[in-house]
Amino acid sequence: MKEFGKVGTETAHLYEIKGKNGIRAELTEYGATLVQLLVNDKNGHEVDVVCGYDCVEDYVKNTCYFGATVGRNANRIANAKFTLNGKTIELEQNDNENNLHSGKNGLSDRMWSVKSQCENAITFAIRDEAYSDDFPGNLEVEVTYTLTDDNALEIHYHAITDEDTICNFTNHSYFNLNGHDAGLVYDHELIINANEYTPDIDSKAIPTGELCDVTGTPFDFRKPKTIGAEIESGDQQLVYVNGYDHNYVIDQSKDYVARVTGDKSGIVMEMKTDLPGVQLYTANFIGGQIGKGGAQYVKRGALCLESQYFPNNINQENFESAILRKGEVYDTTTSYRFFV
Ligand code: BGC
Repeated sequence: MKEFGKVGTETAHLYEIKGKNGIRAELTEYGATLVQLLVNDKNGHEVDVVCGYDCVEDYVKNTCYFGATVGRNANRIANAKFTLNGKTIELEQNDNENNLHSGKNGLSDRMWSVKSQCENAITFAIRDEAYSDDFPGNLEVEVTYTLTDDNALEIHYHAITDEDTICNFTNHSYFNLNGHDAGLVYDHELIINANEYTPDIDSKAIPTGELCDVTGTPFDFRKPKTIGAEIESGDQQLVYVNGYDHNYVIDQSKDYVARVTGDKSGIVMEMKTDLPGVQLYTANFIGGQIGKGGAQYVKRGALCLESQYFPNNINQENFESAILRKGEVYDTTTSYRFFV
């Protein structure tokens, strides 16, 4: 464990975990954040495949959510408002008139505690008091990062509440499989096992509610295609949000959700999740960020594959809702496995 800087008067730390077969990670309790993820490339050299900063102060200052555990609600809620059990809850409007990633009091910006740690795993925990981030219910959350023997980073979430609430966590890692500082990811090859995605109403990225067939659109990644192939095609949906920033309807009959290959490193990342959606976000707004080791991150120099319930599900009847009822357990796992 190393010191990682200060959050107010509190000291944040970096914790290292190691897998048996050449995968390592560093994490911090601020936002239960993944700071570094080291995997071997085709030449056996270690590559750090996630964007991040050198000290916790930079995480506190910035709004990109590099590697963070985002919740209690990941993604957007339209008009920052929803009704649950007849009561209307208003959230912070931090993204136009909408709420994004739970606002400034979200759990990505809090100090979690380390509940346990061993060689290849670490568990962060937090008690999120009712209404401290505007959501009802005291929520007890744990997130466990495990590096498995087959070189997967497995992220397991567990939460309970004492009042009905929303519970929708994601990990917001920005991956560049050529190295976190290797520039554009346009030549990364991508597969997403999804026949449909949820298009947006406009540039504010709230879904229309429709499930749109990907066939014949730049959103079709069922066969391997580079990320750059159609990103500049002028498709209205891509123009709205400056690239890919859309939720896919996962085809759960397939063995995995997504597979990405770094063109230079040969590193392949395979993602799995038990959640219904995944946000493909091509890091459209990270230009100008100075990251680890002075890296100058560029727009579309990484990609996020954020597992989730669909954006704005709470206000959209035909989307599966992320409501966690009192007495229920939120228990979900997302993993990213690496090989060459
Ligand atoms: C959202 C983007 C947003 C990014 C960083 C992603 O999950 O979909 O619209 O810019 O997070 O906040």
